[in-house]
Amino acid sequence: MCGIFGYVGKRTDAGVIAIEGLKNLEYRGYDSWGIACKNGSELHVKKDIGPIGEIDSQEFTAPCSLSIAHTRWATHGGVTQRNAHPHLSEDRNIAVVHNGIVENYLELRKDLKAKGHTFQSETDTEVIPHLIEEELKKTGDFAEAVRAACLHFEGRYAILALHTQSNMLVAARTGSPLIVGVEKGSGYFIASDIPAFMKHTRTVQYLDDGEMVATDGKSITFSDIKTGETRPKREIPITYHIEQAQKGDFEHFMLKEIMDQKDSVARAVNQDEGEIRTIAEAIRRAKGTFLVGCGTAAKACMAAEYFFSVVAEHHVNFAHASEFKLFHHFLKPESLVIVVSQSGETADVLEAIRVARDKGAKVLAIVNVEGSTIDREADYTLLINAGPERAVASTKALTGQLAVLLLIAYALAERLKEGKTLLLETAAAINDMLNPRFVERLETLAEKIHEEENLFIIGKGWNYPMALESAIKIQEVSYVHAEGFAAGELKHGPIALIEKGSPCIVLTGNDEVLLDILSNAQELKARGAMIIGIGPKRHDVFDEWIKAPEASTAQAIMNIIPIQVLAYFLAVKRGKNPDMPRNLAKSVTVK
Ligand code: AGP
Repeated sequence: MCGIFGYVGKRTDAGVIAIEGLKNLEYRGYDSWGIACKNGSELHVKKDIGPIGEIDSQEFTAPCSLSIAHTRWATHGGVTQRNAHPHLSEDRNIAVVHNGIVENYLELRKDLKAKGHTFQSETDTEVIPHLIEEELKKTGDFAEAVRAACLHFEGRYAILALHTQSNMLVAARTGSPLIVGVEKGSGYFIASDIPAFMKHTRTVQYLDDGEMVATDGKSITFSDIKTGETRPKREIPITYHIEQAQKGDFEHFMLKEIMDQKDSVARAVNQDEGEIRTIAEAIRRAKGTFLVGCGTAAKACMAAEYFFSVVAEHHVNFAHASEFKLFHHFLKPESLVIVVSQSGETADVLEAIRVARDKGAKVLAIVNVEGSTIDREADYTLLINAGPERAVASTKALTGQLAVLLLIAYALAERLKEGKTLLLETAAAINDMLNPRFVERLETLAEKIHEEENLFIIGKGWNYPMALESAIKIQEVSYVHAEGFAAGELKHGPIALIEKGSPCIVLTGNDEVLLDILSNAQELKARGAMIIGIGPKRHDVFDEWIKAPEASTAQAIMNIIPIQVLAYFLAVKRGKNPDMPRNLAKSVTVK
């Protein structure tokens, strides 16, 4: 979703820093961008649609110590230069960038128009600088004016406002993330995500929901938006290295992150055994355990339903986070809600946490981003330790989530050691599998099928959610129409889609459902489908076979990796940038 960046301090290259910051937020997904720098007493504003690309940084080299910038993912108002942020007050002294939605903006706009304000865009955001301007007339205190304006807004948002006269940045959040980067003795950065300023500092402070922060570059004050009371804030060191958040020699983050799975799965498995046992005990005692997530993380939750059933003979419920509130009747104070999220910022997951809280249920978070809102809001967090994931398509976070969930299932079955050994063997086999020959084999397969309009993927058991995940992965980066099905469901409808030559991927394992799925593959083949098998063994029904080494109950983790590589090459062969899929954002911070 939208990316926010701001700087105030001693540096005089705040324009160039802002452009760099924006480039480091590009991965979040956007359709337009903009920047405002204070040059002298004037604001220099530039906005555009499309990629930031090779913007001429010469335009921003004039000495500047106060800047804000934004990547916009359109919600209210089309993708136009006018609708891009920053938006300005009537007197052009206040500039605002915003992530989220001001739900009551039409009403506010009407009131402001009556007071003589004029509007240049169709956005909800533009009411913010105008309202701050009105409030500023009352007290002359910029931070207080932002606070007073915020009290009028309905909805979930993060805003960052710049004021030329007081030389200040003020930010507020009631939903979307905001993080302060502290450059000791020099200044402060405020951004939606750490990579935006990580080159300059490794010390951060997180804004919690309902908080605001004001800084003139020399000092910083955190306070409560509603009451105005100041709040103490801890400085936290960033634990990962800048190289981990960069592409290195890879052309795209997606491929780099797929390759990171050579060691990220082992990192996910290396959890404190005592903690895993405590979580397993909490699940055993809970009156109802719910697994909740969105998109790829939701597929990890679905796979975990099978892990808990097959490995631990324990029933857990899955719900998409966006649907979860409809099941609130089943939540009790003794229930446990396990939320799974890479970013730790997904709005629907945060809402699910609120639903759980309202019923007094406990929340366990399985997240990748330490310090994220979900990490901080949960009663208990397990980090998957995948390292920064920047491609919109989630890859290494998924395998980390699956590994942690399977480990918990083994702990629940009181076979933690066995589970850990299996998962570490799986991690080692992934390391071997991701060799240049394997990658080349998938590139060749992508070359063969990249012009196909439709692709079908089937699986059974834990391979069924992996079939759904395969479809997401292929759709989001290559825009091929891909669909995943439970293999046994084909004959109840989807088989009507199969024509001569339709490519169908069949995910298999050496498990109790192997014969079933092979016979489903035969049914497809009998109708002319081209069968691409993925799994530990070649079977006669396969026209093509990609070997995914034998991994017993961890086969889902193994099988999804060739699909990730295939999706990557399908995107590249179709001339798409897999790191920047159209219409998508990395963290979905709106509902
Ligand atoms: C994955 O490839 C997606 N782009 C998307 O489905 C993602 O998994 C989903 O938005 C959930 O994000 P989260 O894990 O950060 O909560």
